[in-house]
Amino acid sequence: MTQYVPFDALDAKSFLASKLPPLLSEGLSDGPVNTSPPAAPPQAERTVSPLEGSQALSSAVIPLLHLAQERYGYIDDALVPVLADLVNRSRAEIHGVVTFYHDFRRTPPAQMVVRICLAEACQAMGSDALATAAKQQCRTDFHHNSADEKYRLEPVYCFGNCACAPSVMIDDRLYGRADATKLAAWVKGAGTQPGMGRA
Ligand code: FES
Repeated sequence: MTQYVPFDALDAKSFLASKLPPLLSEGLSDGPVNTSPPAAPPQAERTVSPLEGSQALSSAVIPLLHLAQERYGYIDDALVPVLADLVNRSRAEIHGVVTFYHDFRRTPPAQMVVRICLAEACQAMGSDALATAAKQQCRTDFHHNSADEKYRLEPVYCFGNCACAPSVMIDDRLYGRADATKLAAWVKGAGTQPGMGRA
């Protein structure tokens, strides 16, 4: 299971402030966020206009939110004013970004996330029955946490593991050739068993 840092506004402030300069110096590419320091110092001095600086800060909002979610597991409401101050934007703007993108969770995650592939190849190999079994086992429905916050169930539309369909992912571990019996064992032993197919 993924371990997160308990959310604390002061910790979030210093954590995000430390990530902002590397993000800005890397030009905020659309790819995965690289939080390591730049390999070489900036080559040429160039005056950055206030508008450019403002746009760069705006572009940092989504990478910073992803970093915060990786650290705390979700976007706490108290993170909004912290981030708004850091990037010089209104709280309403930051709140709008958080609520627009479904990738950002606004409540603490369940202890275990079970994802079932419902795309074509997995459907052909029985993922509907697997989904039914998963709902019973996890005692919840898609897009919801179980009442005890132990499980969250999510549908996925292809893991790229179609050759080993049907596929499921438990936390960050991918399993193939799943069935209800195997799923029950994997959920029970999550974190202790190797994956099947492309892990
Ligand atoms: S369709 Fe399920 S992994 Fe591709």
